[in-house]
Amino acid sequence: PKKIIIDCDPGLDDAIAILLAAGNPDVEIVAVTTVAGNHTLDKVTLNARQVCTLAGLHDVPVAPGADRPLVRDRITAAEIHGESGMDGPAFITPAMEADPRHAVDLIVETVLTHPGEITLVPTAPLTNIALALRREPRIAALVEEVVLMGGSYTRGNVTPAAEFNVHADPEAAAIVFSADWPVTMVGLDLTAQAAATPELLSRIEALDTPVSRFVVDLLHHYNATVGKVHGTAATIHDACAVGRAIDPTLMEAVEAHVEVELRGTATYGMTVTDFRGHIGPPNTSVATELRTERLWDLLIRSLENIATT
Ligand code: BDR
Ligand code: CA
Repeated sequence: PKKIIIDCDPGLDDAIAILLAAGNPDVEIVAVTTVAGNHTLDKVTLNARQVCTLAGLHDVPVAPGADRPLVRDRITAAEIHGESGMDGPAFITPAMEADPRHAVDLIVETVLTHPGEITLVPTAPLTNIALALRREPRIAALVEEVVLMGGSYTRGNVTPAAEFNVHADPEAAAIVFSADWPVTMVGLDLTAQAAATPELLSRIEALDTPVSRFVVDLLHHYNATVGKVHGTAATIHDACAVGRAIDPTLMEAVEAHVEVELRGTATYGMTVTDFRGHIGPPNTSVATELRTERLWDLLIRSLENIATT
């Protein structure tokens, strides 16, 4: 299996991303690292430990990283993910402590120990990943690839132009996109095709296991808050990035140059995506088209696998 590190801020959709990976035989989660994003570092780390416990990932280190962005002030998405950062399901007592290592050290150490083998799957602001690049620039050449949930080539979700994970730490995102390594951007244009529909909920509900009930409770909360804030169904953004790491044929991608806007006022944190080489040569695979049913089939299979292990 492909070795992945999930760098996350659970987060309702982050939780589903972890479960999708945990139950899939083609990927092995070698570490879960956390970063301030949807909520504070303490809360998202506790949530990650709960999800790893539910998924049976008792030996996977859960290491907390940066508690704030590099430059800008911290923002959260508590209006979507709730006061705990993962409202909806009942609390799960974690079976593991947080790892004593800092996420950035753990990322660097893991990549150096497995040269050419680690896929980074960030589903949160890119603070840890940018710090890891600064701490040990050699990781750029040693990581197999970076498949991140973030950005957009059309419109944003927290501002007209910017997506949350990039807007929450634009300077970090700029470091990650401009580094010399293969990056796939799984942005809002792609994840909009991964809505939490009533059909999907019924499929998950029908499994009727502890993990499926957890996901159903979480999706009810997620649909309710996204409905209130955006007037739409929730989209399970972060699971799409894990899906791409599991099976690249789940989505179409186009090569483009992506640059993060750092000086704009209305456009701060926008992922300016140049499909025509106006401002630079391609540096990113930009995901465009999702085979949605296949992603949900994978998710259902993961949830089934977790229930039987
Ligand atoms: C991203 O923002 C977060 O709130 C979600 O977990 C996802 O990673 C979507 O813009
Ligand atoms: Ca997230």
